[in-house]
Amino acid sequence: ITCLYIYTFVFVFFRSKSEPPLDKGVIPWLGHALEFGKDASKFLNRMKLKHGNIFTVRAAGRYVTVLLDPHSYDAVINDSDSLDFTRYAQVLMERIFNLRLPHHQPAKAKAMMKKHFLGMNFGSLNSAMGKHLQALLKAEMPQNQKDWKEEGLFNFSYSLLFKAGYLTLFGGEQNNNGTDPSSVYEEYKKFDGLLTKMARGTLKPEEKRTAQSVRQRLWELLAPAGLTEDSGSSPWLHAYRCLLQEEGADKETQKKAILMQLWATQGNVGPAAFWLLGYLLTNHEALAAVKREMETSETSLLNGPVNTPVFDSALEEALRLTAAPFITREVVQEKTLHMADGQEYLLRKGDRVCLFPFNSPQMDPEIHQEPQKFKYDRFLNEDGSAKRVFYKGGRRLKYYTMPWGAGTNGCVGKQFAINTIRQFVYMVLANYDLELSDPNAQIPEINASRYGFGMLQPEGDLLVRFKPRNTH
Ligand code: HEM
Ligand SMILES: *[C@@H]1O[C@H](CO)[C@@H](O)[C@H](O)[C@H]1NC(C)=O
Ligand SMILES: *[C@@H]1O[C@H](CO)[C@@H](O)[C@H](O)[C@H]1NC(C)=O
Ligand SMILES: *[C@@H]1O[C@H](CO)[C@@H](O)[C@H](O)[C@H]1NC(C)=O
Ligand SMILES: *[C@@H]1O[C@H](CO)[C@@H](O)[C@H](O)[C@H]1NC(C)=O
Repeated sequence: ITCLYIYTFVFVFFRSKSEPPLDKGVIPWLGHALEFGKDASKFLNRMKLKHGNIFTVRAAGRYVTVLLDPHSYDAVINDSDSLDFTRYAQVLMERIFNLRLPHHQPAKAKAMMKKHFLGMNFGSLNSAMGKHLQALLKAEMPQNQKDWKEEGLFNFSYSLLFKAGYLTLFGGEQNNNGTDPSSVYEEYKKFDGLLTKMARGTLKPEEKRTAQSVRQRLWELLAPAGLTEDSGSSPWLHAYRCLLQEEGADKETQKKAILMQLWATQGNVGPAAFWLLGYLLTNHEALAAVKREMETSETSLLNGPVNTPVFDSALEEALRLTAAPFITREVVQEKTLHMADGQEYLLRKGDRVCLFPFNSPQMDPEIHQEPQKFKYDRFLNEDGSAKRVFYKGGRRLKYYTMPWGAGTNGCVGKQFAINTIRQFVYMVLANYDLELSDPNAQIPEINASRYGFGMLQPEGDLLVRFKPRNTH
């Protein structure tokens, strides 16, 4: 027994030499959790200066190995046998959505999603989205309106895109449970505000009650979505419902799963459109370039391929500055990680591995000069084509920006999201005069508490004013 005790003692307190440097933080158990939650980007930069491109930190009882060398990311992204995606996803699913899927087949759900968002339905999804966007914009700002209307650009972008996406995927007008999509948005915004705390398990008792009641209301609002084929929701949602039923999920569980899909499909697009429009409105040259391309573009936006390299570069640049997901995997069997520089490190079973592409490649000054600055043509070559060649340490990078994740678990909705944002931005720029309320206003600061959870959000909002464009 003594031997076993000593063995355990040694095993727990001394990690072997070939493992990444360990930084436990000063607070027992919690470790670095507080600093991590407050501003993960700053914290990970500090750790990188101290330890280098790979290190292990302790946060809330877990050991998390952080890898910040983009040349070595493939070693993590490629190895889905030793580094599992679903386990940590399930932990978050339970914490945020109170959801446990019995007999869940993630591969099947994903294949189905691919079929609908990349395959044959892509065109009809885009045109449905376009129609809803147009109708919502008109309702928001009738063509006969003469006066300027003032609004926060973040709320404007998020609410319009959320409502259009909700109507397109979760239910046509006949299926809003008798409710206006605005009330779904209002409830969703409350939920969104508590999301990071739910994920970290740091809700205060009062916030916990709010979270529960908001979640309950959203479940009720979403209850009929996708139930029947003619419910007015997208074919994808109906097929997803059928899969859940096949897997033996009861009605309660189904509602929770639908809320999770609402988050996955609507949580990032609105904030992304906000940052792009915000950067354009605060950079005259960029706005002029995007407008020029839009006006000369002969391609129809609803059907067929589009060729908008200037817009694409501006969006890529906005996402480089504001998309900040963690890419997290759980080590399910011991693994030796081979770094690009030839170093090898042992990853321990049960630990987590985390990539944070926001710090590198996205904000890495060695890859992107003046990384804090919005340069709409950063992803354009001199001849106007898309630029895909970037270097770090003299070697060409496979990953020079990663807003969509990568590998088999990368974003399924990427093309749909890009098309949606393009339609939205073009519609607004073509039909409205849109300008900053204060011509000298700057893009708002980033809310640092959201690093790690997809698209970042601003602190406060950017006031803009708009009115229908006088086209005569
Ligand atoms: C600007 C908008 C968006 C951004 C920045 C974004 C970003 C991401 C990222 C980074 C991931 C990967 C997470 C990881 O590797 O751990 C992801 C996954 C995913 N995204 Fe998106 N996304 C966006 C819009 C959308 C839309 C519109 C849809 C659906 C229509 C969608 C559906 C999904 C799904 C289903 C997954 C999970 C893939 C899996 O289970 O492996 N996303 N997204
Ligand atoms: C990862 O997988 C891709 C495609 O399967 C392959 O081209 C690449 O060489 C792999 N990289 C590593 C580091 O294993
Ligand atoms: C948010 O935007 C919607 C639609 O654009 C608008 O009706 C609502 O009043 C706005 N809310 C706030 C708090 O500005
Ligand atoms: C930052 O985001 C958190 C979580 O969404 C929220 O609770 C907080 O109010 C936000 N802060 C500001 C200044 O917007
Ligand atoms: C929505 O519909 C479900 C079932 O059809 C019902 O139980 C629920 O009360 C409705 N919610 C609202 C807010 O009308």
